[in-house]
Amino acid sequence: MEKFKEIITFIKKLYNKDFIALQEPVFIGNEKKYVNECIDSTFVSSVGEFVNKVEERICEITGSKYAIATANGTSALHIALKLAGVKENTEVITQPLTFVATCNAISYLGAKPVFVDVDLDTLGISPESLEYFLKNFTEKKGGKTFNKITKKQITAIVPMHTFGHPCKIDEIIEIANEYNIPVVEDSAESLGSFYKRKHTGTFGELGILSFNGNKIVTAGGGGAIITNDEKLAKKAKHLTTTAKVLHKWEYYHDEIGYNYRMPNINAALLLAQLENLDFFVKQKRKLAKIYKEFFDKLGIEFFIEPKNTYSNYWLNAILLKNKKERDKFLKFTNENKVQTRPAWTLMYKLPMYKDCFKIATSNAEYIEERLVNIPSGVISEL
Ligand SMILES: Cc1ncc(COP(=O)(O)O)c(C=O)c1O
Repeated sequence: MEKFKEIITFIKKLYNKDFIALQEPVFIGNEKKYVNECIDSTFVSSVGEFVNKVEERICEITGSKYAIATANGTSALHIALKLAGVKENTEVITQPLTFVATCNAISYLGAKPVFVDVDLDTLGISPESLEYFLKNFTEKKGGKTFNKITKKQITAIVPMHTFGHPCKIDEIIEIANEYNIPVVEDSAESLGSFYKRKHTGTFGELGILSFNGNKIVTAGGGGAIITNDEKLAKKAKHLTTTAKVLHKWEYYHDEIGYNYRMPNINAALLLAQLENLDFFVKQKRKLAKIYKEFFDKLGIEFFIEPKNTYSNYWLNAILLKNKKERDKFLKFTNENKVQTRPAWTLMYKLPMYKDCFKIATSNAEYIEERLVNIPSGVISEL
């Protein structure tokens, strides 16, 4: 308990506040200016210049050729998976240590997640576990890969860059290519994070971002699909904008589309936030360094960015001895107005996904029992 008290005192001193949230948005730039401009223009809804500007800015930041702004990260993932070829009665390989939206987006298309393990040093899909599953449980037929047990085709692999830390995405892509399976990166949490100097979300056929209120930058609510493939980009824009064929006055839609557009007023807020992304990442990385030194002295493991990566440190994490200690820490910190939270309940423990195919996931179990996210909001004056 003495250690826990020390942690609370340290965090309260850092943030100099009574209640410390896990992560909260910081509005120190052009947010009000752009939102006011947007209101004055009356273009607050589904079309407007801010949407175009945000898309351009995302391309500049990520190095992706195309970006399509969406209503949120979940809708972006839904459409990205659809474009990758995920369809009813197929399977998609992903990690059990993720936010539920990853699996929900797979389910919207009538497909089922298959769970492989994560690596302890990245918290993302383990290339070894992925390869083990593909070697032992699948067979290739006519250029496609099928699960030998369920007989279902594997139509995509969705790695996730957990808490902003890039996974071993080049190894995952290499394995995926061997089995002819497209990769859709769930980079909802990793805007501003790079693997070997290349932005996360730009390795697979498609990637997605989230601009939810708890992310490193926010649109209030929003997301984006990123891709280097012009055809996929055009299709993504078409599908997310109700599949309306461009015309000055005719309302003609050529397939079932989705109203997944990011409203212009959200884009106005987001543009201002994106202008400060570099500063936010810099401050988060400073905070992580301070935490690392502090927890090293306490003898508690602080999760650091994996090898070959530059992480945005979206959510900081520590690893406690066991579940009992984790639960004590969660109770003590939250009771003392320092918001902390455990990792997500593993996906195959949720009622909707409990019957999905999975292989041994001891690393994910290890993390679930021990990991706690600690306050990670940007401190401007660090
Ligand atoms: C890993 C992951 N995937 C998908 C999403 C979905 O994004 P959104 O909340 O914008 O729908 C989130 C975040 O919320 C996330 O953390």
